[in-house]
Amino acid sequence: MRDGGGTSVTDSPTDAHQEAAVAAESDENTTRKNGLYGDVSTELAENMGQGWADTERRDLEPVAQAAYTARRRAALSARFPGELLVIPAGNPKVRANDTDYPFRPSSDYAYLTGDQSQDSVLVLEPGQGGEHRAIAYLLPRSDRENGEFWRDYHGELWDGRRNSLAENELLLGLPCRDVRTLTGRLASATGPVRLLRGYDAGVDVALHDRVTAERDTEFRTALSEMRLLKDEFEVADLRHACRATARGFEDVVRILGTDTPTAERAIEGTFWMRARIEGNDVGYASVCAAGPHATTLHWVRNDGETRPGELLLIDAGVESRNLYTADVTRTLPVDGRFTPVQRRVYEAVYEAQSAGIAAVRPGAKYRDFHHAAQRVLTEHLAAWGLFGERTVDEAYELGLYRRWTLAGTGHMLGLDVHDCAKARTELYVDGTLEAGMVLTVEPGLYFQSDDLTVPEELRGIGVRIEDDFLVTEEGNENLSADLPRAADEVEAWMARLRG
Ligand code: GLY
Ligand code: MN
Ligand code: MN
Repeated sequence: MRDGGGTSVTDSPTDAHQEAAVAAESDENTTRKNGLYGDVSTELAENMGQGWADTERRDLEPVAQAAYTARRRAALSARFPGELLVIPAGNPKVRANDTDYPFRPSSDYAYLTGDQSQDSVLVLEPGQGGEHRAIAYLLPRSDRENGEFWRDYHGELWDGRRNSLAENELLLGLPCRDVRTLTGRLASATGPVRLLRGYDAGVDVALHDRVTAERDTEFRTALSEMRLLKDEFEVADLRHACRATARGFEDVVRILGTDTPTAERAIEGTFWMRARIEGNDVGYASVCAAGPHATTLHWVRNDGETRPGELLLIDAGVESRNLYTADVTRTLPVDGRFTPVQRRVYEAVYEAQSAGIAAVRPGAKYRDFHHAAQRVLTEHLAAWGLFGERTVDEAYELGLYRRWTLAGTGHMLGLDVHDCAKARTELYVDGTLEAGMVLTVEPGLYFQSDDLTVPEELRGIGVRIEDDFLVTEEGNENLSADLPRAADEVEAWMARLRG
């Protein structure tokens, strides 16, 4: 939330493109005066304040998501009648000096508004009967007459044109107000308040005496649970994210050297380019793990090289322009052909994933697909003699398989890669699958290079296969089915792409 001055310069300007603003400085100590870039001549200030065309757009249509966000707000309103509900987008985070990290709004704000602008806050104001009126508090266009648009380092001259409040009303389909008036509005609030905490320090402070941790936790939980069931817009967007992700995997296969090494970073960058072209970004840091790196689940350093004869595990997802992400893993033979031992491990994981997929249907317990997949992995591990004299049942009961399967078999997917993470256990991991949920099925086997309990030929092999599923009335739909899963199909697909 921006404060009343409408400007928030906190660091001295260093960018070359801000030279015009800095040039007028005679005294560095005045640089931050009033949050503006110091004193300028009256002549320059007058010159910069005039001569700009009216660019207001009056012909805008609501964004495609507007009807859906209205329904989502109505559902939230019904859950908390009579309470003031406050959902901030969050503020940009400073990386150093006047350089920020790329901004991404809080997922709940994006879910309820379809907007992605920084510093914004959605407020649901309760009326007499308990029903709410939704208002988006946003930064308006930057003022030209007072110089804000060029003397504030986040002014539009530097950061680009923002939508006016009137334009945002047309686009988002809800009333919009200047976010710099929000502190006053919150100060005059009466009655119970719920806040999505932790995104906007200014709002957190403004409401500090009005909220409790317990009630805000309930609010966060409710928001997370609302997102368990995806609406049509969300499913379409996830489908697009999965298709774009498949194209990104194809891009990677095309550059994967058959007899020359390819840097993991080149693989990461190749996928990222697809994500930026077709979507907003990647939905999480891509895992591009060659050879033994594949046994490290969170391998995002990506500073190694691929080698012929080894596997490449790539876990990556395109995040759509509406911020919904895919989450897909393929484990590929660098030179296009699995070795016999790689194929043995791959086919065990494939069989486990197939068993997990078969357990994804409405009415099934959420844990069923996990147990189905892990049981199959345990059977293979037992057949390879890794549990000694113990039976499959014993190994499963004791969880001994987990030394090599490491992780759970999946999670909800949506605006966040690990979506709905604050939902109550009874509605999520102890819950029941329903049509409209989207989740991953992603079993794997990981044999560390230094694991002396497995035969040498297995050491350094890591395999995961991960796809994204919509639970349907009939069972499920594989949203990432553009990519092959079976070993033979993977080899044929790679050969086709590499001509
Ligand atoms: N890419 C993160 C995960 O698979 O959960
Ligand atoms: Mn996943
Ligand atoms: Mn993944």
